[in-house]
Amino acid sequence: MRDLDQPITLERALALERAEMIALYKAHVNPDLCSLLGLIGFDRRFILAEGVEVTDDQGRVYLDFLGGYGALSLGHNHPEVIAAVESVSHVPNLLQASLGSLVAPLATSIATVAPGDLNKCFFCNSGAEAVEGALKLARISTGRQDFIYAEDSFHGKSMGALSVTGRDKYRQPFEPLVPGCHGVPFGDTDALAAVLSEHECAAFIVEPIQGEGGIIVPPDGYMKAAEELCHAHGALLITDEIQTGFGRTGTLFAVEHDGARPDIMAISKSLGGGIMPIGAYVATDVVWEAGYGDRDRCVLHTSTFGGNTRACAAALKTIEIIMRDDLAGAARRKGEMFKRELESIGERYGLVKEVRGRGLMLGVEFYEPKIAKNLSHEYLAASVAGLLLQDHGIITAYTLNNPNVIRFEPPLTVTDEQIGRALEAFDDTLKHHKSLVGVVAGLGRTLLQRGRS
Ligand SMILES: Cc1ncc(COP(=O)(O)O)c(C=O)c1O
Repeated sequence: MRDLDQPITLERALALERAEMIALYKAHVNPDLCSLLGLIGFDRRFILAEGVEVTDDQGRVYLDFLGGYGALSLGHNHPEVIAAVESVSHVPNLLQASLGSLVAPLATSIATVAPGDLNKCFFCNSGAEAVEGALKLARISTGRQDFIYAEDSFHGKSMGALSVTGRDKYRQPFEPLVPGCHGVPFGDTDALAAVLSEHECAAFIVEPIQGEGGIIVPPDGYMKAAEELCHAHGALLITDEIQTGFGRTGTLFAVEHDGARPDIMAISKSLGGGIMPIGAYVATDVVWEAGYGDRDRCVLHTSTFGGNTRACAAALKTIEIIMRDDLAGAARRKGEMFKRELESIGERYGLVKEVRGRGLMLGVEFYEPKIAKNLSHEYLAASVAGLLLQDHGIITAYTLNNPNVIRFEPPLTVTDEQIGRALEAFDDTLKHHKSLVGVVAGLGRTLLQRGRS
């Protein structure tokens, strides 16, 4: 690279060619991730994004059905959210010696729409940070140490969040993790009751629908039963709505499906409208008071950028848009149609084991492929995603804890016509490759051709 003796200006950074970007990424970020993304054609250079559409440096337009892992409920670069952030450009963004310009109004908005009695907000910058805060609040407010989490869960990769994340691949290299964290099968109330009886637990943390676990919907009534069991044993229920929250699953929060009332809820992702990073936990007054309700304790958990004005402005506007445009209702209606059509494609080709999910949080699980020894199962859904991208310009990905599942989580603003295009692409991909081995091989061929052209 040229000019590496001095920092790169923003103007030059924006003008870098794709090959230059890849070289810099390999040199200074994560070379193996870069190669891995290249294998499935995910190393493109995208230069424009609006709504569901993104455009690469060759002028090719794609439909984003990955949606920032659920963070892009309003699509890319929503103009009202951008305008909201610009509208506060004259207000102090960070001023710790103050109450924060928009912290209290945002907390009020969230308390107004949150399930049950959730009423007190703490703001931070990411999902994992929201989970950390929720776990700490559960400990300090109950005076207990242990946690229960669901197997195959995903709550983030910081130390506390990882300790309640149910995937060995992410956990093992970092052990020992936080002690006293007990895994139970997701959806199994007997197993939950058994651990609650055996250990004095601070809380059970759970996603109402598991995202990275492979878009797993628990049996009806599970969240309500979990709430009742926790309370019967003096433990709290922490719901992680970081991916499911703000309309994604067809209700504003996924726990509404069961009418469960969590003690603490973690939120992030779509809260920032796809523009600003923001996370939060929301707790009941009782839990908050027991944890931080005096002058000595009220600063025990803080975050420098938490509640900054621009992030709060984006979040206020995002909630306003989601409510005004009834995006939860839109997700429900479009999701039902999308799921039905995915199921009928699945039935047609015999490669699909199950279509799961609710609203616009959908996953398609493939049968375990009988692939040659040197081909990891991890490449299967990635190969489908690679082909959807290469051949059809549809962006998707697999779920982190279950690489046999491809996810569809488009912006809630997606149109029926755009869903139709994704369905056609999915149908075509399965039709042409006929077997799962064929899917992997098909991607290999496409990439070889791309390499030559
Ligand atoms: C349910 C859930 N919780 C927590 C997280 C972690 O969020 P972050 O990546 O912002 O730390 C994620 C991210 O995918 C998630 O899906």
